[in-house]
Amino acid sequence: MRSLKYYLNKAYKEKWAIGQFNFSDFSQVKGIVAAAKNLNSPIILGTSEGESKFVGLSEAVAIRNVLRKETGLPIFLNLDHGKSFEYLKTAVLAGYDMVHFDGSKLPIEENIEISKKVVNFAKNLPAGRQERIVVEGEVGRFSNDASRLYQEKFEIKEEDLTDPNEALRYLGKTSVDVLAVSVGTFHGIDISVVSPHIRLDRLKEIRQLAEKNKISILLVLHGGSGTPEEDIKESIKLGVVKININTEIRLAFTSNLRKSLDINANEITPYKYLQVPINSVQMAVEAKIKLFGSDNKA
Ligand code: 13P
Repeated sequence: MRSLKYYLNKAYKEKWAIGQFNFSDFSQVKGIVAAAKNLNSPIILGTSEGESKFVGLSEAVAIRNVLRKETGLPIFLNLDHGKSFEYLKTAVLAGYDMVHFDGSKLPIEENIEISKKVVNFAKNLPAGRQERIVVEGEVGRFSNDASRLYQEKFEIKEEDLTDPNEALRYLGKTSVDVLAVSVGTFHGIDISVVSPHIRLDRLKEIRQLAEKNKISILLVLHGGSGTPEEDIKESIKLGVVKININTEIRLAFTSNLRKSLDINANEITPYKYLQVPINSVQMAVEAKIKLFGSDNKA
């Protein structure tokens, strides 16, 4: 099977993006993978530290392995928002294809130091593995707290956005494979308020500075849920090759599970009442795959 690096570079050249879809339970994986299969798309399954602790690192790897084999699809696994070198190392050794070091809340020099350590660790893996592993870094600050943003009328502070010069300096020093940038989106959605717009101007500045310095820069967009479709399409044109979706999957799964349990109040067979939430996850993921243009790219 071709590596994740191959697909990320292909996405960059052809101007589409690969979706990272987070899960914390096998039922969600069923919906996500059914969507990928239906649309013949490469996908990344994502687990945050919390999600990975609930599922189990080795269990997540086993799920990826068996679904890769069964579907023949390029299905990859990323440890999302890892906060320490040690945890990322454990994920890589368990068999993850990709790790994201989130040092965005640290002073930049500390972020650089730990990111370098992760990249060096990946480079020193045995041959056959070192060429395939992908390291994601992050510069700029993301909010996880939709309610705080709600109180602040969803104004993302200018100082939290990725500074293009800092992004380039970080890339030069760490050599991470892909870079998550803060360009106006946030984790989570609040459907009662306006969707977060992507700061395309900032994305353009990052892109232009990279081009001026002849650095190829593969960008990652976090907080993909609830983001206007036009903004997503424009961001892909500006070099975003991976887009993370979590909240929309949680929402599709949980709200439809509630409905399903209400409608079938006497049903106690999980594989019966779980079918509706699984189908809802599949529909949500199919819509994203089409939006990102990764259909028929497997
Ligand atoms: P959302 O929850 O907004 O989709 O963001 C997901 C994410 O960025 C995971 O890293």
